[in-house]
Amino acid sequence: MFQRRCQNDFSCPTVLFQLQSVNPVSNNPLAVQPRFRLGGTLRVPGDKSISHRALILGSLAQGRTTIEGLLEGEDVLHTLQAMRALGAQIEQGTHAGQWNVTGINTGTACSPQGPLDFGNSGTGVRLVMGMVAGLGIGADFIGDDSLSGRPMGRVLDPLHTLDVKTDSHDGCLPVTIHAGARPTAQSSEISIASAQVKSALLLAGLNAHGVTEVIEPALSRDHTERMLTAFGAHVTSDVLSDGRHRVRLSGPAMLTGTSVTVPGDPSSAAFPITAALCIPGSDIVLEGVLMNPARTGFITIAKRMGGQIDILRPRKSGGEDIADIRVRASKLVGVRTEPEIVPSMVDEFPALAVLASFAEGVTDMRGLGELRVKESDRIARSEDLLRSMGINVQSGADWLRVEGGGSSRGKAASDEPVPVRTDGDHRIAMAALILGMVFSRTVHVDNMASIATSYPGFCDDMRSLGAKFQTGMETRT
Ligand code: S3P
Repeated sequence: MFQRRCQNDFSCPTVLFQLQSVNPVSNNPLAVQPRFRLGGTLRVPGDKSISHRALILGSLAQGRTTIEGLLEGEDVLHTLQAMRALGAQIEQGTHAGQWNVTGINTGTACSPQGPLDFGNSGTGVRLVMGMVAGLGIGADFIGDDSLSGRPMGRVLDPLHTLDVKTDSHDGCLPVTIHAGARPTAQSSEISIASAQVKSALLLAGLNAHGVTEVIEPALSRDHTERMLTAFGAHVTSDVLSDGRHRVRLSGPAMLTGTSVTVPGDPSSAAFPITAALCIPGSDIVLEGVLMNPARTGFITIAKRMGGQIDILRPRKSGGEDIADIRVRASKLVGVRTEPEIVPSMVDEFPALAVLASFAEGVTDMRGLGELRVKESDRIARSEDLLRSMGINVQSGADWLRVEGGGSSRGKAASDEPVPVRTDGDHRIAMAALILGMVFSRTVHVDNMASIATSYPGFCDDMRSLGAKFQTGMETRT
């Protein structure tokens, strides 16, 4: 479907090639074969959040930006394509993950000819809405069915207070941002700790004279702030006396092309980490994983559950903390997770639900309201997944409670393959495959292609650690 949409787009050949070469899985259901131990070393793909931002800031900067380790997943490739449509020159380098970006002339930027299609990507569409508003140009924004059902008002409403004119379909895509005067610098308070909203507002303020300020209820991932600084902008952040978090950007900001090295994505790492913690005898190392404290909530909770996770060779790379992570099979116990930790692991709850199923006792996850508006309703999809595996699970508007079965549950598993509904959500698909491995059950995932959104090489990487997958409708061995 993506390829059909793309064929009319003159800027697409490289993207098309990329999509074909990085998408190793068919849309067919896939069987996962059971127990084996995981071992070896793996480099998980580049961080999705940082990859989007590297393309966007590189496109806004004067001169050339070189990116190493870019995630070549579908979400990021949609942003890449949008940057080309906005006038950036983006070329693939000599090896996988290397890309060169020559920025657009922001003084004379033009509205793109056709709509900008972001596929499944909430981060891409929301950040680029801020970017387009900040350039004073217009654009139409579209996406796939899932993205078209997700709320855009959280970005459009604050843009309205900056006098940006927009149209939308009841706060959802398709959205039009109308060309107009570039926004003036203002202070915005946002009610959810959302890096997408914060980043959209900072990008909208890049060309404004004065200080653009964003106050969020708690710190969300700060990659935009860090990367803006690396591109030469003046950005400060502090914590207010009531605990809220404030970011200030001095404008207009002149960005200069630079080199960006994208660390391994901790949200992708959560899946092999989960598998290794649960599968007896496993001992793996994940190299070069991002350890930004705004992203390490999952590791914190997994350790609190009893996970043997060692952080090796902590170091800096491109303004971010990274490390290698050693993970060994562990005896886990259930925990309660509080709302405060959610922003630092907002995408990792499907993986945590798998850990919770394996752990002894109850895991009670609180403050999960945002999970209802991700690529799928992740509370509902996680609950269904666990229940279909025979696990006791309850949920409410913003919570999920799992009664773990411990390591004995897999032995009680039936031979029937478990059908899994993902609603096209990549993280639900990966969680389902890991759950199948952990409990020695064959799972039939309704949409495997979605995994290419964030982790195109997922099955190959898991195989390299010793996992066994089979396409088709094979059952367990
Ligand atoms: C992201 C922010 C998070 C996260 C998303 C990536 C980003 O969304 O769920 O996958 O790169 O800024 P919210 O900002 O909605 O919390």
